[in-house]
Amino acid sequence: MTTKQFDVIVIGGGPGGYIAAIRAAQLGFNVACIDEWKNAKGGPALGGTCTNVGCIPSKALLQSSEHFEHAGHGFADHGINVSGLSLDIGKMLARKDQVVKQNNDGITYLFKKNKITSFHGRGSFVKAAEGGYEIKVAGAAEETIVGKHIIVATGSNARALPGAAFDEENILSNDGALRMGAVPKKLALIGSGVIGLEMGSVWRRLGSEVTVLEALPTFLGAVDEQIAKEAKKAFDKQGLKIELGVKVGEIKSGKKGVSIAWTNAKGEAQTLDADKLIVSIGRVPNTIGLNPEAVGLALDERGAINVDGDCKTNLPNVWAIGDVVRGPMLAHKAEEEGVAVAERIAGQHGHVNFNTVPWVIYTHPEIAWVGQTEQQLKAEGRAYKAGTFPFLANGRARALGDTTGMVKFLADATTDEILGVHMVGPQVSELISEAVVAMEFKASAEDIARICHAHPSLSEATKEAALAVDKRTLNF
Ligand code: FAD
Ligand code: NAI
Repeated sequence: MTTKQFDVIVIGGGPGGYIAAIRAAQLGFNVACIDEWKNAKGGPALGGTCTNVGCIPSKALLQSSEHFEHAGHGFADHGINVSGLSLDIGKMLARKDQVVKQNNDGITYLFKKNKITSFHGRGSFVKAAEGGYEIKVAGAAEETIVGKHIIVATGSNARALPGAAFDEENILSNDGALRMGAVPKKLALIGSGVIGLEMGSVWRRLGSEVTVLEALPTFLGAVDEQIAKEAKKAFDKQGLKIELGVKVGEIKSGKKGVSIAWTNAKGEAQTLDADKLIVSIGRVPNTIGLNPEAVGLALDERGAINVDGDCKTNLPNVWAIGDVVRGPMLAHKAEEEGVAVAERIAGQHGHVNFNTVPWVIYTHPEIAWVGQTEQQLKAEGRAYKAGTFPFLANGRARALGDTTGMVKFLADATTDEILGVHMVGPQVSELISEAVVAMEFKASAEDIARICHAHPSLSEATKEAALAVDKRTLNF
């Protein structure tokens, strides 16, 4: 049997890998993608962490739980009385699984459309070979294929706390956190980062008493301070209990749940008993089973694959993208790198602008930002102007009954170039795109202030915050 030869082999079918495969196929290459994710029946489930246990299922549950909260607490203000409200958690989870499956199937369709050869199994390096690299695919059957270019997109895994391995029963990673079959009465989370806040919000809305233990003394340190403060106020009001500056000690897990010993910011010893514990303290790059040693592929001290700004590894024609390399662990960052690498392989000038990668936290209120924070500009000693506009003064937000939060612009003091845009409030996950576009085009705050925005719309808050940079808001 002759060994199958490909121009490009992508290892990993998450947002980084599957998008790289599609772009490479569009550019005329003969492409294979190897992915090992298994669905509940053991079959392929393309889309990686993002589709199976990340972005997509979390947003499905955030939506369902928000509907539940609105029906229980929000509709009355609109004169809509709901009685007999009840929760069918099984149905909610089944809907979430269906949304995941639609996305898995969508990628399978896209692979067929783009004539990408899909392998279900684990890909590992064997050796450098004539015409590229030999890659073993270990699935239902085992075979070896050869690729001229290899793109590694093997993603990341949840980081466990020492002495508290994930059992997905009592001590849950993001995987278990998305499929609890019953609403826990008491839910503990360790880490008040992105997953802690999103998952904490889901289960609080569904009825859990939620406590989040966070090691750092500041809340959401990477977020603009003013925005983080506003968000914290909203979460406090909702009853999401967040303890900052804690030290987590021994964790005991048994039939009755989990018991966590911890020390509060004042140094006082505490115990938190909960039915379930979600550990969300960051993620680690995944090279398990990849066998990078076989070809001398270099990793850094964190276990990430070492790459330069162009996603080139230490080996010729071996590239790495997404969560398995440096930079923010975000699906859209992985996708951008995938496109850029495919284009570089084709001799084009693929480019990723890390300064304009947006961040969104899908809580309520949502938090979104792009560019530099005020604390970063201060630390740099950069002269800047700031402008803010509260949703309280926005007509559409009032009509929605969703007036928490603000939009904030930071612009260069002399040139007025936009340096950062920060938002907390309704639907800011969508509003942030305007700021990203503006920054990509090196717009000034005045450019946004002079653009006509539809009325009444939440986007008027963006325009008004841009006007605020020049101290000339019209509606506040
Ligand atoms: P992954 O998505 O992890 O995909 C890697 C794939 O490679 C997996 O399918 C894995 O099985 C496969 N694989 C690994 N090793 C091998 C091998 N040797 N052979 C074959 N296959 C292999 N990001 C956002 O931008 N927005 C969000 O809203 C968001 N929400 C999230 C919510 C949660 C709960 C979590 C955990 C993450 C979330 N993220 C979000 C982060 C996002 O999921 C990741 O940044 C993104 O999935 C990274 O994409 P990737 O392609 O690098 O890796
Ligand atoms: P994170 O890095 O966002 O937050 C981890 C938090 O845990 C930090 O605040 C950290 O200080 C804290 N922590 C670390 N060790 C601790 C300890 N021993 N005790 C107490 N607290 C501790 O990581 P998270 O939430 O696990 O998410 C991983 C990544 O997944 C995110 O960084 C993000 O890249 C991605 N993600 C993105 C989402 C989005 O874009 N909406 C949603 C969910 C995840």
